[in-house]
Amino acid sequence: MKPFDSNITSGKNKSFWTASTKTIAFEKIQENVDADVLIVGGGIAGLTTAYCLLKAGHKIVLVEDGYVGSGETGRTTAHITCALDVPYFELERIFGEEKSKLTADSHFAAIEWIANTVKEEGIDCHFKNVDGYLFLSKGDVKETLEKEYAASNRAGLKTQMLKQIPGMRTQQEQWCIKFPDQAQFHIMKYLEGLCTAIVSMGGKIYTESHAEQITEEGAKVNGFEIKAKHIVVATNTPVNDWMVMHTKQSAYRTYVIAAKVPKGKLRYSLWWDTGDQKSKWISAPYHYVRLEEYDNDFDLLMAGGEDHKVGQADDENIAEEDRYTKLIEWTKEQFPSMESVEYKWSGQVMEPIDSMAFIGKNPGNENVYIITGDSGNGMTHGTIGGILLTDIITGKQNPWQDLYNPSRITFKTAADYLSDGINTVAQFVDWIKAGDVKEAIDLKPGQGGIISAGLNKIAAYRDEQNDLHICTAVCPHLFGILQWNADEKTFDCPLHGSRFTTEGKVINGPAGADLKKIEIQPNSDMKESKEVQEENVLAFHKLSI
Ligand SMILES: Cc1cc2nc3c(=O)[nH]c(=O)nc-3n(C[C@H](O)[C@H](O)[C@H](O)COP(=O)(O)OP(=O)(O)OC[C@H]3O[C@@H](n4cnc5c(N)ncnc54)[C@H](O)[C@@H]3O)c2cc1C
Ligand code: FES
Repeated sequence: MKPFDSNITSGKNKSFWTASTKTIAFEKIQENVDADVLIVGGGIAGLTTAYCLLKAGHKIVLVEDGYVGSGETGRTTAHITCALDVPYFELERIFGEEKSKLTADSHFAAIEWIANTVKEEGIDCHFKNVDGYLFLSKGDVKETLEKEYAASNRAGLKTQMLKQIPGMRTQQEQWCIKFPDQAQFHIMKYLEGLCTAIVSMGGKIYTESHAEQITEEGAKVNGFEIKAKHIVVATNTPVNDWMVMHTKQSAYRTYVIAAKVPKGKLRYSLWWDTGDQKSKWISAPYHYVRLEEYDNDFDLLMAGGEDHKVGQADDENIAEEDRYTKLIEWTKEQFPSMESVEYKWSGQVMEPIDSMAFIGKNPGNENVYIITGDSGNGMTHGTIGGILLTDIITGKQNPWQDLYNPSRITFKTAADYLSDGINTVAQFVDWIKAGDVKEAIDLKPGQGGIISAGLNKIAAYRDEQNDLHICTAVCPHLFGILQWNADEKTFDCPLHGSRFTTEGKVINGPAGADLKKIEIQPNSDMKESKEVQEENVLAFHKLSI
């Protein structure tokens, strides 16, 4: 089995899921291929779509440019729930009572679909039906829970108000809403089971196979042509420059810590708080917690939160490491039985401006489909995506089609559109701001940063062998200035969330291309030291980019 190549996963830190399973790798594409449906992306959305289409009798090819699950799916916390990132009372405000109910129905159907598939395919992935508890975050008022309880009931969910939160430290009365019949699993074991089923039905999966030039005819993958009647872009955020979804959603970074808890101390459950009401972000960050099997003596308590817009953390001056520290402190306070922290990682979620995912035909195309805008509900959204796209491609009516239509226009979120637009425009100030590193010589091995000279910006990284890698720091999507993410060691775009490795390779869209590299040629007679050569190249590019 090959080890994970950090250049083609979405960050340096390993999640518990990827660290505790073998890499799921298939052969690279080596010839031109024809299929009914080409699926781009090997996360939960792409694999579920592949599985559903095969069951419906279609011939599919799936390409993944990393390995299976090496995108955001391998970084999830895998709550499988219909308690959504956005409260039901807010869904009612934006979409009305009927669509709020339809939303709940679709997520509940996804939970059931996963449960049935696990059973039918015999997938050993620690799947469990569990209860979930939504409680007030600090400063929030009981009225929020009362409103949500009533709205979730109207949406058809059998929620209950409880006076105490099961499993959590509560000295006095602390109300919460119980969401029964939720679920959880080990995501990588689940994906492995889906892959086995896909291959046994004749589906073809290629890994380390990067799709570009995606059109209505197919795509170019590692230089080979894949021709297909339908193309599903399940890349978490669509990756083609002609796709416009970046105007309808924002990328957020979210953090997770996982700590040991003696077995039996806590019951397997899901817990969420109602979110930071004072947050400046449109998507108020909230805490999400669950338990996972670890070894004979311990379970693993996973807590997430501390979200911020991608590439914009510096506004608040909270370093990534401090976000983990805050998360650990919060978790210890709520769950005193927590012991040593074993894992820390972060990941990216796409927040649609009107709170509803985008699943269906890409605006303007008849046979190109997208699954995006998952928020923190990608386990169910990815599953809904597979079910819904299969129905659309097969020509079968599906009641969720209008709800998730990527071309929908939602009028009740005008203020959010405006505020998000202002935030996007504000990021162009980075063109005239100083970089975070003055000279390349200031970078120690393993460090990166942005070097500026007037309007020119350079993304520089010094690797552990002391070699300097430099690229333009201008995002090839729509020219945002990249920011250095010291925690995951990537360059992240504050405009729409594209991300790049230390060597400039694109790892998250919407950008479809790598960063322009600036080569440092070793001086053949070695008269100049390495540092002088580096500074000469940089000085030249500061003047000429
Ligand atoms: C920290 C964290 C916690 C979360 N917790 C939860 C949770 O508890 N419950 C929940 O429901 N959701 C949760 N989510 C959200 C959920 O994990 C994601 O929404 C979901 O995994 C996205 O799945 P996907 O298949 O759409 O994308 P991905 O898993 O990112 O898959 C897309 C794939 O496409 C590949 N790709 C991209 N471009 C190309 C290309 N050009 N050619 C070939 N391949 C390409 C990528 O390598 C990637 O593997 C969480 C997310 C994070 C980050
Ligand atoms: S992602 Fe759009 S400009 Fe960078």
